[in-house]
Amino acid sequence: MAFLVLLAAVLLVLSAQAVHHVAGQPGFLSIDCGLDDEYSGYKDPDSGIVYVSDGAYADNGENLKVAPEYESRLVRRDQTVRSFPSGVRNCYALPTVAGAKYLARLAATYGNHDGRNDSSAMEFDVHLGANYWDTVLVRVDQVYEVLFVAWAGWAPVCLLNTGHGAPFLSILELRRLGDALYPALMANQTMSMFGRRNMGGKFTRFPHDPYDRYWWMTVGPQWRNLSTAQNMQPDPSFVEPVAVLQTAATATGNNTALSYTWQENRPAYSFMVLLHFADFQSAQLREFDIYFDGNRLGPSDKPYRPQYLASSTVCSSGWYRASDGNYNITLVASAVSELPPMLNAIEIYTLLAFDTPTTFPDDYTASALLIITLLAIREKHPQKIRQVYLIVNEEPIGNNRRVVKGEMVGYGSSSTDSLFHRLATGTAWMSSWSW
Ligand SMILES: *[C@@H]1O[C@H](CO)[C@@H](O)[C@H](O)[C@H]1NC(C)=O
Ligand SMILES: *[C@@H]1O[C@H](CO)[C@@H](O)[C@H](O)[C@H]1NC(C)=O
Ligand SMILES: *[C@@H]1O[C@H](CO)[C@@H](O)[C@H](O)[C@H]1NC(C)=O
Ligand SMILES: *[C@@H]1O[C@H](CO)[C@@H](O)[C@H](O)[C@H]1NC(C)=O
Ligand SMILES: *[C@@H]1O[C@H](CO)[C@@H](O)[C@H](O)[C@H]1NC(C)=O
Repeated sequence: MAFLVLLAAVLLVLSAQAVHHVAGQPGFLSIDCGLDDEYSGYKDPDSGIVYVSDGAYADNGENLKVAPEYESRLVRRDQTVRSFPSGVRNCYALPTVAGAKYLARLAATYGNHDGRNDSSAMEFDVHLGANYWDTVLVRVDQVYEVLFVAWAGWAPVCLLNTGHGAPFLSILELRRLGDALYPALMANQTMSMFGRRNMGGKFTRFPHDPYDRYWWMTVGPQWRNLSTAQNMQPDPSFVEPVAVLQTAATATGNNTALSYTWQENRPAYSFMVLLHFADFQSAQLREFDIYFDGNRLGPSDKPYRPQYLASSTVCSSGWYRASDGNYNITLVASAVSELPPMLNAIEIYTLLAFDTPTTFPDDYTASALLIITLLAIREKHPQKIRQVYLIVNEEPIGNNRRVVKGEMVGYGSSSTDSLFHRLATGTAWMSSWSW
């Protein structure tokens, strides 16, 4: 039987102090990877976000700086990286509350930290827990973001070396979302962000967005910008930033249709779109039909009318994949509409294919409890245990995985002592651990 080894790196980490210690934004954890501990807790001048070092959240890896010629071009959080040259799987352990909704975001901005000055072939995989999240293509220099429901007291974000260079990160951020946000986000539906656009407006994040989502600017020759200074009422299920709702795109000239298109051929991708509408031109009638690749969204029997000064969101139902990889959202004005269609913002998500079964929550919780116990021991005997790891052997059982054997190991006391000490071994459901 195939044996799956999950090396869940863990933790100096769950040590609650590290988590609550930092004065920052409640519900935010913002790691500036590779930052020296002595600078931990600095405030980003643009966003006001407090960034911390990764010391408390990752045990492996090395802190590196980008090369001097890149330094001036990069914002502070991108000037250092944490690189993981050894091991196939290295994980950050992010503290979570089981059942709560989160956004996790990472970026790997290359600045010649490895002296090769070439990122063209660099790539690595990122996993959320035991599940594939995405492949980071370093040359593309983008951010990767996922919305998920936490299944335990910590969520491992793991970097997998796939043979195309040592994985590294510049930032890793965790944001707790409100429980009512993103109704489609469920334990069985982890959503990877494909695009989030502020139509007709600028790039926007915290503090305009209380959850620090990124809303990118987008321009199209077929769109005209609309904007208002009036206050807008966000949709309670999405809490869009008012600044995002205050701008919109509309059709140019006398066009009565507005299209947003993209292409994506990866077969594993299926999409959900969220369209945010809030009208601020009230004098004339605006109504339109909404199509996603020809399938009608919104009311089935009549055209859609955006609300005045209040947002409402139209979502595609379920997950959709186009066989030819071409996607097209089109808003078409109805015959009686006096104004062309408008769109304030769009979000596009893909469903993360959790085709590998997930660990039973009880097993995860048991592991977390053990780690906490171990951390307590470490606190008493710091000279004996410097770092603690949990190695979990899992077997697929039905649609899930059952932990069949766990092994707790620790590093010795000095940072150069890489000798593993076996601390504990447990079998079957992790309930019978021997020390
Ligand atoms: C790194 O590459 C860039 C362009 O790819 C070049 O401009 C720069 O001079 C190179 N730096 C070094 C140190 O070789
Ligand atoms: C997740 O569960 C909900 C109901 O609880 C169901 O409607 C939805 O289709 C499920 N999603 C997936 C991807 O299985
Ligand atoms: C629309 O607004 C964006 C963001 O402010 C700007 O970059 C773009 O040039 C504007 N487009 C037009 C046609 O004015
Ligand atoms: C829009 O339509 C009006 C009336 O039909 C016409 O006078 C005007 O030239 C058109 N504008 C454009 C940009 O096509
Ligand atoms: C998108 O769909 C609309 C209506 O079906 C069509 O007019 C338009 O050409 C399409 N755009 C692209 C880029 O496929």
